[in-house]
Amino acid sequence: LSRSSFPKGFVFGTAASAYQVEGAAAEDGRGPSIWDTFIKIPGMEPNNASGEVSVDQYHKYKEDIDLMAKMNFDAYRFSISWPRIFPNGTGKVNWKGVAYYNRLINYMLKKGITPYPNLNHYDLPQALEDRYKGWLSSKVVKDFADYAEFCFKTFGDRVKNWQTFNEPRVVASLGYDNGLFAPGRCSKAFGNCSEGNSATEPYIVAHNLILSHSAAVQRYRSGYQAKQKGRIGILLDFVWYEPLTKSKADNYAAQRARDFHLGWFLHPLVYGEYPKTMQNIVGKRLPKFSKEDVKMVKGAFDFIGLNQYTAYYMYDPHQPKSKHLGYQQDWNVGFAYERHGVPIGPRAHSYWLYIVPWGLYKAVNYVKEHYGNPTMILAENGMDQAGNLTLPKVLHDTIRINYYKSYLSQLKKAMDEGANVKGYFQWTFVDNFEWRLGYTSRFGIVYVDLKTLKRYPKMSAYWFKKLQQRGNH
Ligand code: GCO
Repeated sequence: LSRSSFPKGFVFGTAASAYQVEGAAAEDGRGPSIWDTFIKIPGMEPNNASGEVSVDQYHKYKEDIDLMAKMNFDAYRFSISWPRIFPNGTGKVNWKGVAYYNRLINYMLKKGITPYPNLNHYDLPQALEDRYKGWLSSKVVKDFADYAEFCFKTFGDRVKNWQTFNEPRVVASLGYDNGLFAPGRCSKAFGNCSEGNSATEPYIVAHNLILSHSAAVQRYRSGYQAKQKGRIGILLDFVWYEPLTKSKADNYAAQRARDFHLGWFLHPLVYGEYPKTMQNIVGKRLPKFSKEDVKMVKGAFDFIGLNQYTAYYMYDPHQPKSKHLGYQQDWNVGFAYERHGVPIGPRAHSYWLYIVPWGLYKAVNYVKEHYGNPTMILAENGMDQAGNLTLPKVLHDTIRINYYKSYLSQLKKAMDEGANVKGYFQWTFVDNFEWRLGYTSRFGIVYVDLKTLKRYPKMSAYWFKKLQQRGNH
């Protein structure tokens, strides 16, 4: 594999998000986000970790960008922290926050790294949670579009690749069904969930996220796109769901899982409505798009970003659930990590991450075949190791190199067969705050000593350097 294995102009990038890398949580006027609040609830973050300091990219951005340039990356997908720009969610601009993103973007451009900012990676301003329950209120649609428009106006002379949201499914399901992510509503684990909420809130939140995304795209298209000549998309996570057996029932179980996971967001964007399986199963609890909404939602993207890490087997559990305990129950599927005693793949450090390269191939093909082969980027892909591995051993991450080799080969195969993929972003560059796993999980190709915050490129970083070498094209 080398750069020349991919088409000319294919983008090799790296991805991260504001709360995971920036630190400086209380600096220069940044307002709190729902993650700052969530992290302080006892038990929500098992490791008592937070993103308050993290790896301090807010101050060390030059060092990180220099290293990205050294490793021959073309692009950096970062996220803009909404509460850094609007500490109250709306209204008064925090110009010091704006200045930070100007410094970051300008330095990237100086070093030949193309900025791919994402407007929201989970960190909703706490002020909006307090004001109207955040994503649960349709008021958020206008507020998000205003914030997005401010960014187009302010940074769009230099930014040509916009993304609105990262993994809205995760926000809806982990934030409002199992309560594992902010704002931690409906958490059975913490006993603060009533059945009724969990059966409706994820759908309301997802609906508001889809409308917020589409409203932002509409603003971009009507006021900025022609002049700024950029593109705008959304980032969707997609686990590949493989039927456990060839049976009709298992096939249908896998299809339900794909519809409830990816189709929930991609179907409206491509076809203007939720998948039929969801309409049938969720019934009245599923919000509806009005005629006006459909006009705004359908086709509201120039590209789709896919975050793809893993795959699971799906089977029919034989006993349809009659009670709605939450949206995941609506899927009515069984998850399996093995078939006839053979694991679907080796497990990385995270409990959810099985290494299944062919899953990426199937996921990309699925989008190609079911959604009209839209322009795609592979927007996240990577694996973690335990946080307590130490120097210098931690730098010898052959296992990670093998992961990337095998996944990139599968991506290439899908592209050779016609999938319209324009770029690949590995997750992630520097080790960082891995949400509920805190710093016990490290996804970076660059190790960070959390005491000194010193960066040490792992072998995988040098592997990317070689892969991404220019000149042979
Ligand atoms: C996302 C992910 C990232 C994670 C990565 C590894 O939403 O894009 O949650 O933020 O750090 O997927 O788990």
